[in-house]
Amino acid sequence: MVTENLREKSLLLIDQYIKNENLKKHLLATEALMRSLAKKFNQDEEIWGITGLLHDLDWEITKETPEKHPFIAVEILEKEGFPEEIIEAIRKHNHIHNLIPETLLEKALYSCEEITGLIVAVALVMPNKKLAEVTVDKIMSKFKEYSFARGVNREIIMKCEEFLGIKVEELAEICLKSMQSISDQLSL
Ligand SMILES: [Fe+2]
Repeated sequence: MVTENLREKSLLLIDQYIKNENLKKHLLATEALMRSLAKKFNQDEEIWGITGLLHDLDWEITKETPEKHPFIAVEILEKEGFPEEIIEAIRKHNHIHNLIPETLLEKALYSCEEITGLIVAVALVMPNKKLAEVTVDKIMSKFKEYSFARGVNREIIMKCEEFLGIKVEELAEICLKSMQSISDQLSL
């Protein structure tokens, strides 16, 4: 598979399998974050970005059978001939299955994607509901307020310290900047 076509092909799959606009935005935000992390760790930005972009491809198909998430996505991506490293990282990212992420890419996806949801939630409580108003301090204070955005798993996010050697605060900063850079696509 030619790498230049990967993103185009990924977007077509997303259109095919995902109807919910907020889920599409979560995928775009995760892509942006993964690209920034790839840059930071001198890794392949395209591979990391596509991994983020596709990681919840089967979310809607597995709504009634969450134990199948992300294994249906894995089947689809295998059939489509996506690179093995992308598929493996996606396969291991759902912590409910207790699969151990091993490569840096696997560890990054596993520990990082949840923070995008926290940042969206923080943006939505700002006066104009804009990412431009969000600060790292604000994210960190909401990170510590467990009753805020309860669905966001703080324990998984904290894994970035062990897995990637970066503090949650640094992850928050990288993620905020990444999301701000595509704020028009995120409508935030
Ligand atoms: Fe996700």
